[in-house]
Amino acid sequence: MKNFRVDLRKVVDDSYDIEVGYELMESFLKDISEGLVGKIHKFAIVTDSKVKDLYAEPIYEALVKAGYQADMFVFPEGEKSKTREVKAELEDQMLEKGYRRDCAVLAVGGGVVTDLAGFLAGTFGRGVPCINYATTLLAAADASVGGKTAVDTPLATNLIGLFKQPKKVYIDIATWSTLPKREIISGLAETIKHACLADREFFDYLDAHMEDILSLEREACEHISEANCRIKYEVVMKDELESGLREVLNLGHTVGRAIETVSDYQLLHGEAVSIGMVAEVMLAEKLGLLSSEDKEAVIRLLDKAGLPTAIPAYIDREALVRKLYTDKKVRDGRLRFVLQDGIGSVKEFEPGVFAAPIEEKLARKIIMAMPVGEYK
Ligand code: GLY
Repeated sequence: MKNFRVDLRKVVDDSYDIEVGYELMESFLKDISEGLVGKIHKFAIVTDSKVKDLYAEPIYEALVKAGYQADMFVFPEGEKSKTREVKAELEDQMLEKGYRRDCAVLAVGGGVVTDLAGFLAGTFGRGVPCINYATTLLAAADASVGGKTAVDTPLATNLIGLFKQPKKVYIDIATWSTLPKREIISGLAETIKHACLADREFFDYLDAHMEDILSLEREACEHISEANCRIKYEVVMKDELESGLREVLNLGHTVGRAIETVSDYQLLHGEAVSIGMVAEVMLAEKLGLLSSEDKEAVIRLLDKAGLPTAIPAYIDREALVRKLYTDKKVRDGRLRFVLQDGIGSVKEFEPGVFAAPIEEKLARKIIMAMPVGEYK
């Protein structure tokens, strides 16, 4: 018998730019003409039914006018479309239209679109380049940056997916003007999360400028976009694959993701994260990590943004406790939470360990102690 070694050590450079600005379609066209995706001339534009007419269609038309081959692959808007089934339908449509390995995927939309399209790009033909054109505050704040892609399953959100870094991210703030107020507010939860985990000054900025942000005042939108990108990419650059530090980006998400599923997606992602942040600060206070002033300040800021800070009456809290175990941070069957030890700071429990095991009894106690909200 002989042994052979397949030596596949490699140096990978997945670096990419994030461009933040207003009306970035021209910039995108210029980038591809200058080789952003090499010689690729074929673009699968993945988008949802809401974004299609508003932003995907103009990009599609501009691509065709510029001599590229492009097609739109559209799925019904909403988190309920972020499934393996919808991904398979889109893949079949692409195959039927002759798409093979010689294409790039352009995701135009919010977090559901960038998560689904990125996952699709990562597996289509064993992987084709992907570009994100983010049209929501939520995608701008979180989903479009960092390379996490996934679909939801009936059990829970984001359990199946892969890391697939985009070739470039365009954060087009002009698109936010067509977002329903509820979506703007939902996007702010990830923004507040970033401030809570990394930047007290940004937290104070959000507190002082919430009205400007909610009325989409230009300077405020640029400021929050830049701060979100900076906080997120600084974490991702240090721990792309979430072996330690990146877990801090899960602040508020243990309860957040669980309540999003238990609400059957009646709660938008950001709304669920907001409720999760309240549970997290209550837990951090209980464990003596966070002062009651800081806990109150976090809840006040979420409230000021118009986000829910209580558990809707229709939520079955026991089901919520059970759902906590579907969290990706669970290890050896134990719940683990990322916790703040101040505003702008998360607790490092051991070197490189940012999530602590929490007894179910304590998690249940916090969830049962949370107020009941009238929120949808
Ligand atoms: N949304 C959390 C992360 O990107 O790690």
